[in-house]
Amino acid sequence: MTARLEGRNALITGASDDAARAAAILFAQEGANVFLGDRNLEAARRVAAEVAAAGRKSGAMAVDVAHEEQVDGMVNRAAAELGGIDILMVADAVMHARYPGGKNPNHRLIDEPLADWRRVMSYNLDAYFLTGRAAARAMVAAGKGGSIINYISVAAFMAAPGGGDYSVSRAAAWMLTKVMALELAPRNIRVNAIAPGYLDSNMSREFYSGAPGRLEAVLKRVPLGRIGQMREIAASALFLAGEESSYVTGQVLHPNGGLLMQ
Ligand SMILES: NC(=O)c1ccc[n+]([C@@H]2O[C@H](COP(=O)([O-])OP(=O)(O)OC[C@H]3O[C@@H](n4cnc5c(N)ncnc54)[C@H](O)[C@@H]3O)[C@@H](O)[C@H]2O)c1
Repeated sequence: MTARLEGRNALITGASDDAARAAAILFAQEGANVFLGDRNLEAARRVAAEVAAAGRKSGAMAVDVAHEEQVDGMVNRAAAELGGIDILMVADAVMHARYPGGKNPNHRLIDEPLADWRRVMSYNLDAYFLTGRAAARAMVAAGKGGSIINYISVAAFMAAPGGGDYSVSRAAAWMLTKVMALELAPRNIRVNAIAPGYLDSNMSREFYSGAPGRLEAVLKRVPLGRIGQMREIAASALFLAGEESSYVTGQVLHPNGGLLMQ
């Protein structure tokens, strides 16, 4: 059976051990070459080595995805090293202005300093615009269409007090996804999003450990009664990256255990 991404070239931003790594390995197992960009070069190289171990071409680069020139440089280098870009997956983000490693300020909007707001918007929104724009330009120049996948979050659809900067950035990335889908459809470039719920991941573990009994409280709200695994999220990305979704654009997948039903 032909691998589902045989010979495709994928650029993935955010090379964490979670969302990006799970997708990079699945894409490689399904025949894709993968280039990774992250501000943590060591993490990107680690995942690139796993892609190479799966027998695929891979590359890694240190990049700040909120920095215009660096993003354009990353896309040009990925296209040069892999021989083009067919798939872009944008999975970098911060959960709050002190993420990772700092205490979550959990700002109420009335108390939020502009600097914190700008930091979250630059990493969780400007970066999605800059990376999507640069990759779309490369795909249009190649004239072979493509697939752009934006990782957003269930937080884009559920307002909650505190941490509004994260939710607003995710909701805005969802609208960005839809407008890009409309504008790029004539070029057969599909743009879709994935809105995970509560996961078994660094980002979610920081959230669960933020208050006693928070994980138990979360599990009570999830109809499937458990948190999601990164490989389950990667499976959604594989669907959106490949031919199975050739008639899907401007849509969002909700791997959230039934937490949110629309
Ligand atoms: N993990 C979850 O529980 C969860 C739930 C819902 C949605 N999501 C979404 O999934 C995506 C990935 O989440 P994750 O769990 O892998 O997060 P993570 O924190 O594990 O990984 C994020 C990666 O992005 C990188 N990054 C952040 N800012 C950057 C910048 N400016 N330039 C370059 N790299 C940068 C970090 O170095 C890190 O490797 C995010 O879009 C997030 O909103 C995650």
